[in-house]
Amino acid sequence: MSSLASKDFRFPEGFLWGAATAAHQIEGAPLADGAGPSIWTRFAHTPGMTLNGDTGDVACDHYHRWKEDVGLMRELGLQAYRFSVSWSRILPEGTGRVNQKGLDFYSRLVDELLANGIEPLLTLYHWDMPAALDDRGGWLNRDCADWFAEYGRVLYRALDGRVRKWVTLNEPWVVTDGGYLHGALAPGHRSRFEAPIAAHNLMRAHGAAVQAYRAEGAHEIGLVVNIEPKYPAGDSEADAAAVRRAHAYMNEQFLHPALLGRYPDELRDIFGEAWPDFPEADFGLIRQPLDFVGINYYTRSVTGDGDSYPQRTTVVRQPLGTYTETGWEVFPQGLTDLLLWFKRTYGDLPVYITENGAAFFDPPVAEEGRVRDPLRIDYLRKHLAAIHDAIAAGVDVRGYMAWSLLDNLEWSLGYSKRFGIIHVNYGTLERTPKDSARWYSGIIRSHGRSLSDPLPY
Ligand code: BGC
Repeated sequence: MSSLASKDFRFPEGFLWGAATAAHQIEGAPLADGAGPSIWTRFAHTPGMTLNGDTGDVACDHYHRWKEDVGLMRELGLQAYRFSVSWSRILPEGTGRVNQKGLDFYSRLVDELLANGIEPLLTLYHWDMPAALDDRGGWLNRDCADWFAEYGRVLYRALDGRVRKWVTLNEPWVVTDGGYLHGALAPGHRSRFEAPIAAHNLMRAHGAAVQAYRAEGAHEIGLVVNIEPKYPAGDSEADAAAVRRAHAYMNEQFLHPALLGRYPDELRDIFGEAWPDFPEADFGLIRQPLDFVGINYYTRSVTGDGDSYPQRTTVVRQPLGTYTETGWEVFPQGLTDLLLWFKRTYGDLPVYITENGAAFFDPPVAEEGRVRDPLRIDYLRKHLAAIHDAIAAGVDVRGYMAWSLLDNLEWSLGYSKRFGIIHVNYGTLERTPKDSARWYSGIIRSHGRSLSDPLPY
């Protein structure tokens, strides 16, 4: 990596270095202390829905080991920690009665983070809707905007004095594509008619939660999306059109309404008869001024004309590409390209990279307590360099949250994929920082400068 070795990596002052997790993926004890079930508890307990029948019943047991986990963050020198709150711990029925014990859990966590000098970034919704609300139609029910704002208000009132960075939704695209269209994720629906309705209502809920925040909160709030650049597989007009469809479906479907107040035109064609006419007034609610956007970046896709639903594309595997354990191509340049596209399209809104990381096969913990994960280090290093390139080109990137702090429950794929910079032994629940965690710790200490150092292998 001689090109990185010769670079002078200066990151902006105040650039925040952290790591991210999500409630259902790490907490375990989903019904403890009066919590209600979420759609993920229900989904994972339905036979056949997750690999090996894995559930979040124990996960990383973070619900009991949160203090130890904050201690590890401190040891690594993390400056920020992005986590999500489980809605049904706070409101077991989704609306109405507040469960004080659930609130206390997050309140203690936030206090412990602050006591250790770690800035909390709180996500309201990382995919675990209260099952009681799913019974009322979930994201298909237009009332979800009120439910979500009510939930937000409870948290703003309890925590805004201590939490200064809030996120409404994590990856609405995955919620709808996985949860309502293809059914691989909770609530497991497979309906082309439901997907655009759920997507639209998610954005209405986002808007309502931002509005509620402006009335209650004094700090910053934003939206987190997962986006990836689409490059044409060949020179044909058909491939170019496929790229436009894929790009509209994945990258613009949520950012356009949130930031421009409209959907990209392609969506009507993509969804065809399943695309409803949405009331114009909804866009006033959806488009709220945001303080930042969070971008989760994992990969790109080289796209050709094809028959996937709804975008009618195919993803072309790169014979010389490097692929992670989840089958995603490693393509750091894509992150630079994406950030430049974001700035060109939506202007100078501050951006956080709210997730970035990779599942690779990790060797077992060695006797001396090390987990050697050079591929993950290489991945993180090249992506941080890609972010640096985007900053140098004028994109206002304010921070980086590695995905993930801990190995954890990878949704329907259960415990089969390890994204953590900290290894978790699922038998003993023992945590062991991997080499990537130690390496990242050094990067943080040098405020990014040591990205030009040779790799420790
Ligand atoms: C999600 C995480 C997930 C990660 C890796 C993101 O889509 O926000 O919850 O574990 O990607 O798949």
